[in-house]
Amino acid sequence: MAPVVHVLNGPNLNMLGTREPEIYGRETLADLEARCQEAADGLGLELVFRQSNHEGELVGWIQEARTEAAALVLNAGAFTHTSIAIHDALKMVDGPVIELHLSNPHRREAFRHVSHVATASTGVIAGFGPHGYSLAIEAAARLIGEG
Ligand code: DQA
Repeated sequence: MAPVVHVLNGPNLNMLGTREPEIYGRETLADLEARCQEAADGLGLELVFRQSNHEGELVGWIQEARTEAAALVLNAGAFTHTSIAIHDALKMVDGPVIELHLSNPHRREAFRHVSHVATASTGVIAGFGPHGYSLAIEAAARLIGEG
């Protein structure tokens, strides 16, 4: 059976395409999912791709990834900078966790310089725009020995 990679997206990422395109680009979340699917197909991985605006739902999905996913990719959106609950859920995940951002939060406002995801992640991909999603799938494959 193909290893499963879960890609979870947090609040406001359902608005990609129209949301601040000068920062996040013009690709929609569906475009990003298609990128991930293409990368996963090429690497022999199965993909689960989800988005929620709700912190508790994301926590539930992270708990699910703990047992169901070989690797987890997480763009937690603004919850990156605020959520101890997401940090705590990630600490229970034994497999690789990749923090992902379209923008580079370190070049932006000071409140984006703190990440509660990074301190519970294997590595971080940020600032590469939509291509970061493809890079994250490649990184996940490497980390689980499939790339
Ligand atoms: C983001 C960066 C976050 O600071 C922001 O709150 C987002 C998107 C990114 O992908 O660049 O919602 O995670």
